[in-house]
Amino acid sequence: MELLGARVDYFGEIERLKVEMNAVILAHYYQEPAVQDLADFVGDSLALARQAQGTDADVIVFCGVHFMAETAKILNPGKTVVLPDLEAGCSLADSCPPEDFRRFIDERPGHTVVSYVNTSAAVKALSDICCTSTNAEEVIASIPEDTPIIFGPDKHLGRYLVEQTGREMVLWPGTCMVHVLFSERKIRQLKVRRPGAEVLAHPECEERVLRVADHVGSTSSLLKRVVESPAKEFIVATEPGIIHQMQKAAPEKEFVRAPGKGPEGACEACSECPHMRRNTLEKLYWCMRDLAPEITLDEDLRSRALSPIERMLEIG
Ligand code: 13P
Ligand code: SF4
Repeated sequence: MELLGARVDYFGEIERLKVEMNAVILAHYYQEPAVQDLADFVGDSLALARQAQGTDADVIVFCGVHFMAETAKILNPGKTVVLPDLEAGCSLADSCPPEDFRRFIDERPGHTVVSYVNTSAAVKALSDICCTSTNAEEVIASIPEDTPIIFGPDKHLGRYLVEQTGREMVLWPGTCMVHVLFSERKIRQLKVRRPGAEVLAHPECEERVLRVADHVGSTSSLLKRVVESPAKEFIVATEPGIIHQMQKAAPEKEFVRAPGKGPEGACEACSECPHMRRNTLEKLYWCMRDLAPEITLDEDLRSRALSPIERMLEIG
């Protein structure tokens, strides 16, 4: 226990614990900057799953949300996987209860079920193949043309994929509580004030926001665009944690958070994912010190959820 009032050198202690327990720290782009800076690897949800699959560490410290850490555990039943805050959920995963999703599938026999990784293990276990926004088009292309598809749980990503791939899909009506809040009207107004700025948007945003975007893609795709684009200013319509990596990758460029639908002057933090931001530097230290909270999974459920994840990882 720390002495009352004693300051903890979180950076030093986390580094020490990492070596002591042969741990790897994996962080999503939406984590707070200090957590990203401590991680061994920062990436999008697909890259993080691949890192988890390939690691030889004994302990995976997952700085992201529950479904991401759960995916790491599904891939690594023999390893300890900890998440700084077990309550770090996801509105998309919550929008798709497994019992309801099972009924939805049963009502549509013969469909191939594609699930975004933003789902619980129980929903993955009902699915044929998983995808992320990075590889969704490739995953859909891998399904025979004459096979009907159910896609869940994000209806905005689903609609965008129907448009991109030309494949009809039955969509589950889930949404991300963060991405639906960006305001197309205010983004347009901001573009008038910053005519040289490019609008970057994650496909979980509403259709009208995607229509004003210059580039639509997963977090890693948006980051890549920042480096490759000739633009010097960007309006970022995704969780602003990623701006930390954008600034590192292109320090001479300027990044503005896309405005939300709230009243004029509404708080800037509104586009921060309340789940992702549950993880803090302190909680990261505590979870490594105590090896808790740990992700645990029933073995039968884990093995059923594994195959759609492995199918996804085999692609690309
Ligand atoms: P990426 O797969 O693009 O990293 O997105 C994850 C996510 O949760 C978006 O809200
Ligand atoms: Fe889930 Fe949205 Fe947060 Fe991503 S930003 S973890 S989809 S709630």
